[in-house]
Amino acid sequence: MKLIAGNSNRSLAEAISAHVGVPLTQASLRRFSDMEIFVEIQENVRGQDVFVLQSTSFPANDNLMELLVTIDALRRGSARRITAVLPYFGYARQDRKTGPRTPISAKLVANLITSAGADRVLTMELHAGQIQGFFDIPLDNLIASPVFIPDMKRRFKGKDLVMVSPDVGGVVRARAMAKRLDADLAIIDKRREQAGTSEVMHVIGDVKDKICVMVDDIVDSGGTLCNAAKALKEHGGKEVYSYVVHGVLSGGAVARIADSEMEQLVITDTIAATPAVEASSRITRLTVAPLIGEAVRSISEERSISALFK
Ligand code: R5P
Repeated sequence: MKLIAGNSNRSLAEAISAHVGVPLTQASLRRFSDMEIFVEIQENVRGQDVFVLQSTSFPANDNLMELLVTIDALRRGSARRITAVLPYFGYARQDRKTGPRTPISAKLVANLITSAGADRVLTMELHAGQIQGFFDIPLDNLIASPVFIPDMKRRFKGKDLVMVSPDVGGVVRARAMAKRLDADLAIIDKRREQAGTSEVMHVIGDVKDKICVMVDDIVDSGGTLCNAAKALKEHGGKEVYSYVVHGVLSGGAVARIADSEMEQLVITDTIAATPAVEASSRITRLTVAPLIGEAVRSISEERSISALFK
């Protein structure tokens, strides 16, 4: 087995490598002066089972291109099997036409990864489960509950909890968490008036005097969570916490969260932390390295992935 890391999230790649007990393969990922990406794998990969570790997070296009070029280099280097490991699959939010003459970029990215030469994909908490069908190669979509649930149990032991979906699209995820924690469920009915803004309308369910725990796949501008936290407090919620898998946290998100009604935002390390994220006392990061490492090992040894979630 070989593990190769792109530049998007070196610390996660190193942690996965340490967990699996396989060093990162020597590779040089460089730029020409016009910013074209060049990749040279500096170890023999002929006949190897290779995992390319790369989140297509900010800068999304550079990181995506780096992934594609690396896969191409491996294919031409006669790797036996190439698994694209995307802890965060960028472009996932563009999973349908949102208006006339708009793209379905998640499908385009799936096509690009497949055409580059990936034999399979390993990712986490896809924005929409049906994106799995955009690929005609096997895809494993890990869920973050083995990382989040122990932390929630420790933090909220003995407390009156309600799991909250900050929008209607996340109800399945929140319901699954509520079931695991024997908690109630509430839903925020959010209306987004225009792109980039979000507005909270209604809280469906009883949150009064409860610890409200929002769960979501992505926090980007932070608008969804901050507005939802405000609504939960207005409806009598005692304290508000959020558990979100992918901390995109663009623009002024970190400051917005610091000013919000949220006690803590818990994210994972699928996306490399900016200095602002690292410095924020409101944001806690949990690592997914052991989970991804186990999945990598399972794929390599042809063992069940679903067994990791039992
Ligand atoms: C939306 O469907 C997603 O699940 C997230 O709720 C959304 O991407 C969060 O975006 P923002 O933090 O910019 O409100």
